[in-house]
Amino acid sequence: MTELGVGCGRDARFFASRRFRVRGTELSLQGCRYARSKGLDVEEGDALHYLRAQTSATVDAVYSNLFFNMEFTRQEHQALFAEVARVLRPGGLHLFSVRSVSDPWYGRGKPRGPDTFDPAPHGVPMHFFSPAYARGLLQRRFRLLALEELMEGEGEFPIRVLYVVARREPEDA
Ligand SMILES: C[S@@+](CC[C@H](N)C(=O)[O-])C[C@H]1O[C@@H](n2cnc3c(N)ncnc32)[C@H](O)[C@@H]1O
Repeated sequence: MTELGVGCGRDARFFASRRFRVRGTELSLQGCRYARSKGLDVEEGDALHYLRAQTSATVDAVYSNLFFNMEFTRQEHQALFAEVARVLRPGGLHLFSVRSVSDPWYGRGKPRGPDTFDPAPHGVPMHFFSPAYARGLLQRRFRLLALEELMEGEGEFPIRVLYVVARREPEDA
């Protein structure tokens, strides 16, 4: 499986401990170094660039946690989802979680684009997802298997997250 935006590798380590063969990509050199120090196979750099270098239909699952919330435009999201679809084997899974437009942080800070806000100095710019936006990105390449919205986090930092599981459709419709 492939993880996008591995961070320090917390989730990748969990999957590896369950005997998944995990590879991943991470933009931050610091995160990347830490993940590698834990024995993970993580490439430093941009996820789109990483995906474009992978052979078509070779990956069983693409996973990401709060990665698509980074400051990507709709066009960039579309390019990323198209690449995820390309690298997945037919029947492969695209599993991701994203901060929702119902998140308590939605609308805080400076608007930077549709559903995108910069809460500086309290964090990095974020693109929040509605269920409709997530569905639109999946379009005809994927079959949506599950989409659930839940609160996560504790105390002063609760966040509202959409959890999405979609299956790569066998053929391009
Ligand atoms: C909110 S963090 C989540 C990290 C990790 N998935 C976790 O759950 O702890 C988003 C991560 O995506 C990385 N990132 C941002 N833009 C990226 C890009 N274009 N390509 C790869 N990684 C990126 C960031 O450096 C950051 O580590």
